[in-house]
Formats: sequence, structure tokens, C-alpha cells
Amino acid sequence: MARITLRQLLDHAAERGYGVPAFNVNNMEQVIAIMEAAAAADAPVILQASRGARSYAGDVMLAKMIEAAEITYPAIPICLHQDHGNDEGTCLSAIQHGYTSVMMDGSLIADAKTPADYDYNVAITARVADLAHRVGVSVEGELGVLGSLETGMGEAEDGHGAEGALSHDQLLTDPDQAVEFVKATKVDALAVAMGTSHGAYKFSRKPDGAILAMHVIRAINERMPALHLVMHGSSSVPQELQEAFNRYGGAMPQTWGVPIEEILVGIRHGVRKVNIDTDCRLAMAVALRKVATEKPAEFDPRQFMKPATAALRDLCRQRFEAFGTAGQASRIRPQPLAAMARQYATGSLDPVFSVRAAA
Ligand code: G3H
Ligand code: 13P
Ligand code: ZN
Repeated sequence: MARITLRQLLDHAAERGYGVPAFNVNNMEQVIAIMEAAAAADAPVILQASRGARSYAGDVMLAKMIEAAEITYPAIPICLHQDHGNDEGTCLSAIQHGYTSVMMDGSLIADAKTPADYDYNVAITARVADLAHRVGVSVEGELGVLGSLETGMGEAEDGHGAEGALSHDQLLTDPDQAVEFVKATKVDALAVAMGTSHGAYKFSRKPDGAILAMHVIRAINERMPALHLVMHGSSSVPQELQEAFNRYGGAMPQTWGVPIEEILVGIRHGVRKVNIDTDCRLAMAVALRKVATEKPAEFDPRQFMKPATAALRDLCRQRFEAFGTAGQASRIRPQPLAAMARQYATGSLDPVFSVRAAA
């Protein structure tokens, strides 16, 4: 069995210069699709569950599905990650259920809608990092609020995200403040606000530097070259999937996501974890719509879910290949949580030691 912490996985990714997609999971078919893709590509995986996923599937059901994935694919290191934890309780209960990594998103207060101030974010993230590290579990923090530089809006419609209008400063992580934040909280990875938002409707045109602020990634990477950066809202919302969705009766207005080539720029500048949910949803939804349209007499759910699982598997495989994750699983020997905990206790995993002074 090969459960791995986010920290060990991203350290490996940094050493070898690749990125790891973090796919959201809510049900059995998604777990199967991602694992089939990982096994075919020899890629380590990050399976992440949002609070919504945990309440949709139930904690025990989700945990047991991941256990089944581990047993079925013993050669694939699996990091089970809490996506957008909103408070200590969410993060600690995830750890109880076997998560090897948690995101404490203190950019918003516990309602997951209202932007938090810096001191709140530091205090709650440091508290979670201290507790999680004692048992070897990794922690991702977030500085700056996810949302659109184009509209100045956060997005809360899918259950997590700032509600309403945000200032330009809130929408972009301040690179100097990021150094302070990492020193104060000791997070293993940092989610950066740089103009991306969750969901399908990120940009109304192919993004350029005015609406997708890759310079923020470069500036933080310059100051902290060893810190693992996380890009949220990184679905590419491929044009061909939009067209297919609409061809089979969907109604998706023209939209643009984050181009793969921009993600690769990020990976060259310290981005190690790339969060992708919308593309997975879209790939499955297209396949479901296709069956519903082409086979109106079909009523066996398996006949809908089989092509949907295959479509997700193919999409995940493409991301593993594009980000350089393919071929890496067999090079990793996962360390137990106790070994990680000992390293945190001796300070050898402290990110502060790898921080370069601000320019
Ligand atoms: O945080 C955003 C992810 O896409 C999860 O979405 O809260 O609807 O599960 P969700
Ligand atoms: P997308 O909506 O772009 O897939 O982003 C997912 C995400 O950031 C989950 O935390
Ligand atoms: Zn996110």
C-alpha cells in the first residue's frame, strides 16, 4: 500500500522538475478513472476531497474507496488531500479519516465566503500546521483570495469561494507577504491568488498577462525557490469539450480556462500541485450527455458511467503526460507518517530554511 504525504510527493516533484495534477473526487467512477490513468502512466496521484465531496459521499465511503484504490494499485503512491479546509475541525477530521495532507484555507473565514484578514489567516494556518505536522501530515495554505481579475469578483456559487467584489490587492498574492506567511505558518505548500477562479467561467477571452498574473508565481518563486506553489482553478476548459457539451444538448456559453502552456510556465517556476476539477466534471458530463442523446432508450446507469469513466481517464492521462508526472510513480518510496513527523520535529522539513532573502 502506498499512501504518501503531499510534502514528500512535492519534494520529489521539485527535485525532478515536474508538476502533479490534484483531481477532485466525489464518487467511485472518478476514483477508478484517475487510478486507471495513473497506473497506465506510472504517475503518482493526488486525490482531493472538498467539504462538498465529503458530505456528498460520506467520510467513511470516501475513505474506503481510497483504501480500495490503494489495494488495487499498490504501486501507485496516493496522496489523499482535504481541498479547501475551512477550519481546524475540517482538517483534523480529515486526518482522522486517513488524509495525508490538508489545505487550511484561511484566506476566507470559516463560512468559506468572507475574506479573512492576514492575522486570522496566519493564526489558523499556523495552528493547523503545528497539529498536522505532529502526526506527519502535510499542510497547504492560501494567501490572497481566488477570483477574477477581469471582473473583480470572487465566486461562491459552487460552495467555496469569496462572495462579491474583491479589490485588486486581495486578488493577487503579495510576494513579500508570502515570505512572511510561510515563515510564520510553516506550510508545506502555498496556494497563490493570481487571477484564476473555480468553475468553468474563468475568462471571457484567451487569458493574457492582464487577467492571468503568472508574474506573481515568478516573483514568489524568486524569493522562495524551494517552496511548493499550488495553482487552484487550473482547469483548461478545452474548447472541444465545450463544443461537444453543447452538441449533445448542453448550454455552455463560450468561455476560456487556464491554457496548459501557462501551467507549464508555472511548473518551471515552482508550481508543483495543479488543482483540476471542472475539466473532470466536463469530460464526464459530455460522455453522459452523448449517451442520453444517442441512446434515448438506455436506462442502465452503467452504460452511462462506463464512457464517462473512460473520458475522465483519458483526460487525466493527458494531464499526467503534460505535467511530467508520468513515469514518476515507480521512482518514489513513500515514507510513513511517523517518519515525516520525526522530520518535522527536528526541523528538517521547515520551509524557512529554504527561503532566499527577498530581493
Ligand atoms: O473548490 C473547488 C472544487 O472544484 C470543489 O468543488 O465544493 O463543488 O466540491 P465542490
Ligand atoms: P477548477 O474549477 O478550475 O477545476 O479548479 C479546481 C480547484 O481549484 C479545486 O480546489
Ligand atoms: Zn481550489
